[in-house]
Amino acid sequence: RHEAGTDFYEITQRVAELDIIPGVRTPAWTYGGSFPGPTIVARSGRRAVVRHRNELPEPTVVHLHGGHTPADSDGYPMDLLLPTGDAGGASHAGHGAGGLARGSREYTYPHEQRGATLWYHDHRHGVTGYAVWQGLAGFHLVHDEEEDALGLPADDHDIPLMIVDRSFGADGSFLYPRADARPHSHGVAAPYMNGVLGDVILVNGAPWPVMPVEATRYRFRLLNASNARRYRLELDPQPPGGGGLVQIGSDGGLLPGPIAHDALDVSPAERFDVVVDFSRYRPGTRIRLVNRLGSGSTADVMCFDVTGPAGESRPLPERLAQGPALDPGRAVATRTFHFQLRPDHGWSINGRPYEPGQVLARPRLGTTEVWRLISDFHHPVHIHLDPFQVLSRDNRAPGRFDAGWKDTIDLHPSQAAEIAVRFTDHPGTYMIHCHNLEHEDMAMMADFITE
Ligand code: C2O
Ligand code: CU
Ligand code: CU
Repeated sequence: RHEAGTDFYEITQRVAELDIIPGVRTPAWTYGGSFPGPTIVARSGRRAVVRHRNELPEPTVVHLHGGHTPADSDGYPMDLLLPTGDAGGASHAGHGAGGLARGSREYTYPHEQRGATLWYHDHRHGVTGYAVWQGLAGFHLVHDEEEDALGLPADDHDIPLMIVDRSFGADGSFLYPRADARPHSHGVAAPYMNGVLGDVILVNGAPWPVMPVEATRYRFRLLNASNARRYRLELDPQPPGGGGLVQIGSDGGLLPGPIAHDALDVSPAERFDVVVDFSRYRPGTRIRLVNRLGSGSTADVMCFDVTGPAGESRPLPERLAQGPALDPGRAVATRTFHFQLRPDHGWSINGRPYEPGQVLARPRLGTTEVWRLISDFHHPVHIHLDPFQVLSRDNRAPGRFDAGWKDTIDLHPSQAAEIAVRFTDHPGTYMIHCHNLEHEDMAMMADFITE
């Protein structure tokens, strides 16, 4: 199909056998037969329509994480896309604006947003952890003109890296402790209250890969798509003088200027856009990307081999993106959200486990609000629809990894953080939830309605 100003994509969700572990095959739930799914490359201001067809054995829901998306395409957890072969359906009901679909449906993304690294993944009520673990995740990149003008590393020097942990059975299958293996069952087995962790690290679907690189600058779009694992990523060895990971962007696109880090803490769903300058290393060096929060097999992520000749690359600009800071002084409301484990209810927000249709906040479009997020444990808290800016942590300055526009904040145990968020454009039902996917499935999620 053709239509001015709109790009069309088709993705078939299906079971595919992947070659991940030598000697065995891994049956996976895939977008289009691969893991990660196909990378969608979009332009800011240019609409995309993605038609998903569900040939999997269970219903799905597609969410574009970081997308500034109308509610009926946002992937509300009850807006199921039933499998092509599903003859039943009487027990299913759509709750959100997107309703219920059978076989296939279209999701519309206007891309009225800055250039940024987005990703899409399953979001079905109560089963998101299982579905993503089975392989339902992919990149969705948005480019814009502001970025074009900067001369950042591009094309084969602009590489998205999806980092996940997984466990495998002896037969190669993804191992997930689903509470009940029957289709349409919800939840996770009880001992996994803190989330499901794997012992194999995959980058773009390959275990501990080695990437040959030229002695020049690369842009890596790091995404932690793990269900529950946090990483502290570091290059080993560091380049002379340190600061090997130069952050240029966060969840919501480019920063005002680059920030050099020795290590990056990345919680589930966060994106860090970094530039690594391999000309700072001697050719022939093998550089490990390590995880300082892991041990044994999870302490390693991948390797870079500096092989090729020194390539051409422009120095990094000192100024990257324009863009005003949100002014918390103009906030029209302050709301508090407690993320806590309740002895009676399990993981909850403000004492309530998730229930579709139960609304925790009604922000008005066109206004800015301050949200106080209070946490008992590590919770990577994510807000749909609009990005936010971190104002403070425990009444002090934001953390080292909080720069720029965020859609997910890594809340630490016993911490209170304040964020400013401006609600724009789309009225409807959206979500705030923990992106530890097992916490999310165990009901640490709430609806808010923009109006
Ligand atoms: Cu990445 Cu509501 O999710
Ligand atoms: Cu999201
Ligand atoms: Cu959590």
